[in-house]
Amino acid sequence: MEKTTEDDLARYYIQGALDFHSLSGYGNFPEPPFNIGGVPSVDLLRSVGDQAAAEAEYRALRALLSERRTRRRRGRRVSLPLLTSCLAVAAGRNEEDGSWPYPSAGNLRAVKVFLVAVDVPEAEAIYLFDPIRAEFDLCDSASKAGEQAALGKRLLRTSALDPHTVQALFLMVADLAKAGLRYGERSYRYALLEAGHMAQNLSLALSVAGVPCCPVGGIDDQEVMDLLEIDESARIFLYGVAVP
Ligand SMILES: Cc1cc2nc3c(=O)[nH]c(=O)nc-3n(C[C@H](O)[C@H](O)[C@H](O)COP(=O)(O)O)c2cc1C
Repeated sequence: MEKTTEDDLARYYIQGALDFHSLSGYGNFPEPPFNIGGVPSVDLLRSVGDQAAAEAEYRALRALLSERRTRRRRGRRVSLPLLTSCLAVAAGRNEEDGSWPYPSAGNLRAVKVFLVAVDVPEAEAIYLFDPIRAEFDLCDSASKAGEQAALGKRLLRTSALDPHTVQALFLMVADLAKAGLRYGERSYRYALLEAGHMAQNLSLALSVAGVPCCPVGGIDDQEVMDLLEIDESARIFLYGVAVP
């Protein structure tokens, strides 16, 4: 038998990813009807007179984006109110006009954000973000989380981050039962994209607050589900944002 090379292995895993992707191809599940509530009428484009204002905003946005870096070292110490403010801006509904800062397939908001506070003064271990009130609620599982300082090591599977100095982890969990009823096989794809939008907003909000962060795929799914005490098979962990 021929020896398996690194190339063979790479091809094997790439084919696996392609097969996985093809499962969301809109082959089996029907396209859902367009019945999203509260869709606003299309805004008129900015008039020419606003061009200078738009350019100033682009400059500000470019400056902000050029500040964004994945940082893996501890920056400023964070607090629960600071983390709440950042997530409220990134993923909370605007209480004044009801608008949302990120897009959501079918407006279902099927991705929820948990906060694991590893080393945040006066914080308990686990919170769930309520996007309507833009506040964290303490989770029942918090009291059973075990030693808080060890949670980074328990969850992280990436050598680029020091699990002992991580202050907090935002964890994005999708409810596929909710999204799947509308989008069937594509709900997984949409959930991933939605989590990406949320994580991008969050990384920018943290940047503005001077808090370095790192998007993390390297997290142990099963440890997350155990820690958050999620036992419904249709709820899945997708993505994390670490605050080193
Ligand atoms: C989907 C995704 C998963 C990632 N997972 C990890 C991770 O597990 N560990 C880590 O240290 N960085 C992770 N990163 C961060 C990238 O390594 C980082 O963005 C890249 O090195 C480029 O650096 P920059 O963000 O400063 O431009 C991830 C980024 C993305 C988009």
